[in-house]
Amino acid sequence: MQDKAQSSKASYDKAALRERKKILGSDPEQSILILILKACTPTFSRPDFGKTLQSIKANFVQRDYEGIFTDAENLQVYSAAYVPGRALCYYEIFCRPQLSRVLAKNSLVYAVGSGSGSELVSIAAAMTRAPADRQKVHLAMQDIGEWADVLGLFEEKIRTDWKLTTDQLTCIYEQGDVLSTENEARRTELISSADLITFMFVMNELFVKKAPAMALIQSLVSSMKKGALLLIVESAGSFSHLKVGDKTYMVYTLLDAVKDLECLISENSLWLSYLPDFNSSNENSSTGSND
Ligand SMILES: C[S@@+](CC[C@H](N)C(=O)[O-])C[C@H]1O[C@@H](n2cnc3c(N)ncnc32)[C@H](O)[C@@H]1O
Repeated sequence: MQDKAQSSKASYDKAALRERKKILGSDPEQSILILILKACTPTFSRPDFGKTLQSIKANFVQRDYEGIFTDAENLQVYSAAYVPGRALCYYEIFCRPQLSRVLAKNSLVYAVGSGSGSELVSIAAAMTRAPADRQKVHLAMQDIGEWADVLGLFEEKIRTDWKLTTDQLTCIYEQGDVLSTENEARRTELISSADLITFMFVMNELFVKKAPAMALIQSLVSSMKKGALLLIVESAGSFSHLKVGDKTYMVYTLLDAVKDLECLISENSLWLSYLPDFNSSNENSSTGSND
């Protein structure tokens, strides 16, 4: 007898999707945390974990981002501490229909400042909840730091535990400054071919350098292809304050003012209430949430 689901008008295999959802199971958040724990176990066991995390937090207070993200010693600790809360929050976002659709087809996702792995883990998790029939996601991650090893650990676990094949998900990591004129040609290429561009807890760091950050926004407006999506997740705390003259704006109000971009969804406050304790740190005061 033909499966009821298959005889419906759905353009994907519903039975296969039901089967696929078993990968993360009935408690997807727990499965995400387990995968991160497995990937980061050696880091959590490092004797200098607590000390390194304290120095990262101190650098955040000073807004010394380069001090954090260009020091290879810091990177694994940063990921282990901050990716769990962020990945859970982003998973919820990537499962929303507008984004899930992008993850169910042949698409390019350009994730800026995504070296620590939150985007990789959450996108991969959301992909397991979307139909696989036409899924072919190319994830281009770019960041200033030496994140290749960190991302490699997450990718390895995603392939073994979540069974995402290289046909379904390809991952590339490009180390480079998104604001640098040296990388402009590649940046334009990625911007103009991407179906989804993400800036997650990155914009306020980029606006430390106002002129090149504004040039980046201009490039997004002029080069993004029609129908492509731009996803910005930012802290609503003082980390997002942008001083222009003697006035202070929130970084995202500036983006809201860009006329060529149509706002599809906007939320002022999204809290994730089950953050692990070690994530309730100083950084952005509400790590993992777009408060
Ligand atoms: C607060 S972290 C957020 C990381 C990740 N998006 C997340 O949500 O977990 C900011 C990231 O942006 C990166 N970043 C900062 N300035 C950058 C630049 N000019 N070009 C590329 N990456 C940059 C940092 O290296 C860091 O990995």
